[in-house]
Amino acid sequence: MSVLILFNQDLITREQATIDIEDRGYQFGDGVYEVIRIYNGSFFELEAHLERLERSASEIKISLPFTQKEIQEKIEQLAAANRLHSGHVYMQVTRGVAPRNHPFPAKSDPVLVAYTKEYEKEPSRAPGKAIFMEDIRWLRCDIKSLNLLGNVLAKQSATEQNVDEAIFHRGDLVTEGSSTNVFIVKNNILYTHPANNFILEGITRRVILSVASELGIQIKEEAFTKQELLESDEVFISSTTQEARPIVEVDGRQIGNGKEGEITSSLHAKFVSRLS
Ligand code: PDD
Repeated sequence: MSVLILFNQDLITREQATIDIEDRGYQFGDGVYEVIRIYNGSFFELEAHLERLERSASEIKISLPFTQKEIQEKIEQLAAANRLHSGHVYMQVTRGVAPRNHPFPAKSDPVLVAYTKEYEKEPSRAPGKAIFMEDIRWLRCDIKSLNLLGNVLAKQSATEQNVDEAIFHRGDLVTEGSSTNVFIVKNNILYTHPANNFILEGITRRVILSVASELGIQIKEEAFTKQELLESDEVFISSTTQEARPIVEVDGRQIGNGKEGEITSSLHAKFVSRLS
């Protein structure tokens, strides 16, 4: 059985899909996306991801081609057709096809594409290393836009330096990772950048904050400096694919005792208990 993709309302093979050379997603990065995790055949936080997709689209004046409920049904059909067990669905919506011109037409037909990825092995959450990078992205990082060049170049630098993530900062203040949110723990208080235009409000970030409050951990959604990060007891990053992953070295400097911290590991354990 061949793997299917969702192309607007149709489940078809990848070979059957055609993308027009004047699709604005292809020419301008004019669109939005989501990555949604599947554990044991069930979506994790599906509604939250679809709500964020709707919000991102509406912030760039795209009306989704289907209702949230219809999209939910379609990607559930896609995951079932591909017998997805443990992996993720990638989905994107572009503004659609129009003669190339920066301003967009009053009416266009957005194009929705979604496909599944089955994990051969679970993504690693082994303690990782990171580097700092100046955040040169635009000022609407709250939109999960297809324009990812700032993120791509930062992750490329991290990869070339054999580390796992690039941690962005604007001036002295840490914002987020190139594809993750960033948390620190200092004196048993959990800090993360507030959910404003400087970061993507991660769905995993939300779940971490919720389990932290269940565990009675004090939370401060406040920006912290690079220096405060380097002097913190624990650092971890969060995302759909990496859950809560400890970072034990940044720019060659050890964080805390160089091992996964106790608060990180208790937050992760509580996070995992939400999966079943
Ligand atoms: N990245 N910040 C950025 C810039 C991201 O790209 C992501 C997710 C996150 C975490 O969001 P969430 O917890 O909802 O996954 C934060 C996805 C996984 C990606 O682009 O592959």
